[in-house]
Amino acid sequence: MRKPIIAGNWKMNKVRDEALNFIYTVNQSVPSDEEMDTVICAPDVLLRCLVKRQGDYLKIGAQNMHYEEKGAFTGETSPLVLNDTGVKYVILGHSERRQYFNETDELVNKKVHAAYKYDLIPIVCVGEHLEQRENNTTNQVVEAQTKKALEGISAEQVKDIVIAYEPIWAIGTGKTATADIANETCGYIRSVIKELYNEEVEKSIRIQYGGSVKPGNIKELMEQEHIDGALVGGASLDAESFIQLTNFKKL
Ligand code: 13P
Repeated sequence: MRKPIIAGNWKMNKVRDEALNFIYTVNQSVPSDEEMDTVICAPDVLLRCLVKRQGDYLKIGAQNMHYEEKGAFTGETSPLVLNDTGVKYVILGHSERRQYFNETDELVNKKVHAAYKYDLIPIVCVGEHLEQRENNTTNQVVEAQTKKALEGISAEQVKDIVIAYEPIWAIGTGKTATADIANETCGYIRSVIKELYNEEVEKSIRIQYGGSVKPGNIKELMEQEHIDGALVGGASLDAESFIQLTNFKKL
């Protein structure tokens, strides 16, 4: 049995007071970490104040990081600093990073290695553009992204990783992939994991779906065989909506 993981990706949203109000509202209402993992990935400047106030169950994640510990990399965040801040997760290779900041699969791979070095759990994003979906090349795209991201990562390490399948055409568009489509591609990613590692890893690795997830569609998505969680943008910004997402079993 894979433990569900529901993560909010706030992207570049919220000032400190909004973030604190959110965390005070949500802390008491997320399920226990025995039942599922719940995460909020916030902008860097908010991380320390959120970690300080995180309750017993909700964990805090970052949305990106550099792969070097320190150096002349103006404007970047060190994985060592994230670790020192008490951050537990880090999103790597989000499609917005790939699209607007030219992140490549090679770079994502370096960051995945750095995450392990600094004890952070990577949430590695993969996903296709609309044209790729229409050309029937989705599987090739997510396979290549997954293989490159995991290059040099051992079977022991990879068990902890979270992969987020986020079709780019479904992000922020209100167009959710149908549960069938999402499940099929998550299943394909799982088969790639089996090919790269073994059956044990294939069965244990957690794969999230992301792209216009909201309280109204999370239950159906979470019922799918290969979907173990969700990476949620817009619908994670509102505390009540996030509480509903994490309590999807009761919806
Ligand atoms: P939306 O839920 O707003 O579509 O964003 C998805 C996403 O990019 C999460 O990382």
